[in-house]
Amino acid sequence: MHDASFWDQIAPAYSQQPVADPAAWQRKLRVHKALIKPTDAVLDVGCGTGSLCLELAPHAKRVHGVDFSAEMVAIARGKAAGLDHVTFTQGTLDDLDRAYDVVSAYSLLHLVPDLDVALAALYAIAIRARCSVVSSFSNSRPLAVSSSRRCRRSRAPCFWRT
Ligand SMILES: C[S@@+](CC[C@H](N)C(=O)[O-])C[C@H]1O[C@@H](n2cnc3c(N)ncnc32)[C@H](O)[C@@H]1O
Repeated sequence: MHDASFWDQIAPAYSQQPVADPAAWQRKLRVHKALIKPTDAVLDVGCGTGSLCLELAPHAKRVHGVDFSAEMVAIARGKAAGLDHVTFTQGTLDDLDRAYDVVSAYSLLHLVPDLDVALAALYAIAIRARCSVVSSFSNSRPLAVSSSRRCRRSRAPCFWRT
């Protein structure tokens, strides 16, 4: 498992990396954006350099990204300069504000040292949210995640295995 200093070091290169599978990324974004209302507050956990937050920004009232890497957050803030409703803080899964309508975590769960703890933290926010979108993979075991009740009712494909 890498700690925040690893992500700090690779943040500049990471921000320049092209999306590995642009078609899949666009498909996922389409579904994700369709789940968001213009009045929603959106949280993206493990937001990296803020690409997803910026994509979701035109569709939400406010978007907040959290990442434990200070360098990732600094780059994300630079990319969102001038967008007052897009904010970022340095933080971990342990200190997340729970008052969000939509919660997302892309490419995060395969990185955490304890999947159960990470899922519990995400679930604690998702249960209050209307919808959660988690896209990741796990080498240790298949992901068994359930989304918030309201999201399940909408039958939206909220969890992807990538
Ligand atoms: C593979 S990148 C994905 C970034 C972004 N979600 C994306 O899809 O481009 C993983 C990100 O998660 C962050 N991260 C890893 N473990 C974390 C944790 N426990 N709490 C907060 N951020 C974490 C890293 O700093 C990194 O920016």
